[in-house]
Amino acid sequence: MAELRFDGRVVIVTGAGAGLGRTYALEFASRGAKVVVNDLGGTRHGDGSSSNAADGVVDEIRQKGGIAVANYNSVLDGEKIIKTALDNFGRIDVVVCNAGILRDRSFPRISDQDWDLIHSVHLKGSFKPAQAAFPLMKKQSYGRIIVTSSNAGLYGNFGQANYSAAKLGLVGLAKTIAIEGAKYNIFCNAIVPTAASRLTEDILPPDVFKELKPEFIAPVVAYLCHESCQENGSIIEAGAGWAGKCAILRSNGALLRSSMTDNVNVEKVKDNWSQITDLSKARVLGSIQEATGVLMESIESLQNDANTSDLNNSDVFEY
Ligand code: NAI
Repeated sequence: MAELRFDGRVVIVTGAGAGLGRTYALEFASRGAKVVVNDLGGTRHGDGSSSNAADGVVDEIRQKGGIAVANYNSVLDGEKIIKTALDNFGRIDVVVCNAGILRDRSFPRISDQDWDLIHSVHLKGSFKPAQAAFPLMKKQSYGRIIVTSSNAGLYGNFGQANYSAAKLGLVGLAKTIAIEGAKYNIFCNAIVPTAASRLTEDILPPDVFKELKPEFIAPVVAYLCHESCQENGSIIEAGAGWAGKCAILRSNGALLRSSMTDNVNVEKVKDNWSQITDLSKARVLGSIQEATGVLMESIESLQNDANTSDLNNSDVFEY
C-alpha cells in the first residue's frame, strides 16, 4: 500500500509537548506535515507554564528532518495557536485537540475551581482552536479535527466526575462539528486513548504501563486525519496496539400507552421496565432524526390503531 503522506498539510497538535500529543506531532511530521507544536508546559494539574515542553518536541522533529514550530499559548487562546500556524505556514488542514490535565477528587470533594478548570482546559480548550480553524477549513473545503475523549467519559471513573463530564461533552462537540462540517469536507472524530503518560503513571500497573505506548495510538489519529479517511462523527478507541469504534446504543424500548387517549403512569413504567432496559435487540442510531423518528413511529402506530378502531366501530354501526 502507498505510504499515507501529509505533504503540504499543516497540522496543529495541542498539548504536543509530552505524552500522546508529542507522538502525534512526530507521526505527522515524519509523513511530511508542517506541524504546530502547542504546549503550555504546566504540571499535570494545570499549574505553571514553560516553553521547554513545546521546544523539546520541535527540536526532536527538526533533528529528524521535519518541519515544526512551537506555540506556548494555553488552548483557551485558540486563535493565537491558529495565528502561529497561519503566520508560519499559511494554512491549516488538521487540528488535534489533545491538551489535558487532571484534578481528580471524589465527587463530594470537587471544588468549583477544579470543576471549572477541567471544563475550561478540556472542553473550551477544544472548542476554541477548533472554532478558530473552522472558517479557514470551510474556505478551502477541507479539514480534519480530532477531539480527545476518554473511557472515564464513556463509562465514568471513580474520582473523575469533573473529567468524565468534560470528556463526554467532547463526544457531543465532535458529533455536532461533524454534522456541521460534513458538507465542507470537514470531518471531526473523537479519539479515546489509553496510553502510558504522566497522567496515567500512578493509575496503571507498571507491567501494563510499558505496553501502552502512545506511539501505538498516533497512527490511528493520523489515519483519521488523512484526506483518504471518510470517518466522521465517530468515537474511536485505541490503545495497546488495538483500535475499535464505540457507539451509544438504544434498546427497542416499550410503548407505555395503549391508545391515543391513554396516559403514562409510574406503574406502567415499572411494569415495562425489563423491556425498556432490554439491550438484547439494541441498535446504534445514526442521527437525532433517527432517534426522534422512533417516537414519531410510536405516535403513528397509536393513530393507526385509533383509525382502525374507528373504522371497525363505524363498520359495525353502518352494518
Ligand atoms: P500528558 O500530561 O502527557 O500531556 C498533556 C499535555 O497537554 C502536556 O504536555 C501539557 O503541558 C499540555 N497542556 C495541559 N494544559 C494545557 C493548556 N491549557 N494549553 C496547552 N497545553 C496544555 O497527558 P496525555 O496522557 O498525553 O494526555 C493527552 C490527552 O489524552 C488528554 O486530553 C487526556 O485527558 C487524554 N487521555 C489520555 C489517556 C491516557 O491513557 N494517557 C486516557 C484518556 C484520555
